[in-house]
Amino acid sequence: MRGLAVLALGLALASPALAQEAGRTNFILRCAGCHAMDGSGSEPGGIPDFRNYVGAFARTDDGRRYLMHVPGVVSASLTDTEIADVMNYVMDTWGGTSLAPDHRPFTGAEVTTLRAAPVADVVAYRRKVAADLMAQGIATAGYPWP
Ligand code: HEC
Repeated sequence: MRGLAVLALGLALASPALAQEAGRTNFILRCAGCHAMDGSGSEPGGIPDFRNYVGAFARTDDGRRYLMHVPGVVSASLTDTEIADVMNYVMDTWGGTSLAPDHRPFTGAEVTTLRAAPVADVVAYRRKVAADLMAQGIATAGYPWP
């Protein structure tokens, strides 16, 4: 019995680490093929560079909504909690100086809300979000889509 209690305590303490590990694993399996293991993507290939840019989108409500409607996330067939974990992995790993000082990690509940608000044209939406950020002096990655 005591062993079980110790095990339960250990799992409870380990859960942020487990969420981080789940995010990393899903990134490797479902995202790295396009975004590369180092998050550099391929600007000529239309895959934006995450490094010190991607955190900018997490600063605004429209940006957070955009992140949930990029093609790789829409088509990944992950649960909302798994999407939160993989997006938090992306933010923790590559957000760097682009993250707000009071950056708020994603939760499964927020992902559910954001995914329920459809984005008709993700390229046009990204341009609007990037322009709004630029107006505040915050840059986003190069983006060659027409
Ligand atoms: C088939 C290739 C592909 C896969 C797989 C993929 N992505 Fe992407 N990703 C893209 C492309 C292309 C864009 C730019 C699309 C756009 O905004 O229209 C993008 C944009 C993004 C952006 C926004 C970056 C920016 O500067 O606009 C994030 C964040 C992102 N993807 C996360 C993910 C995550 C997380 C996964 C895995 C669950 C994933 N992607 C899987 C191709 C991919």
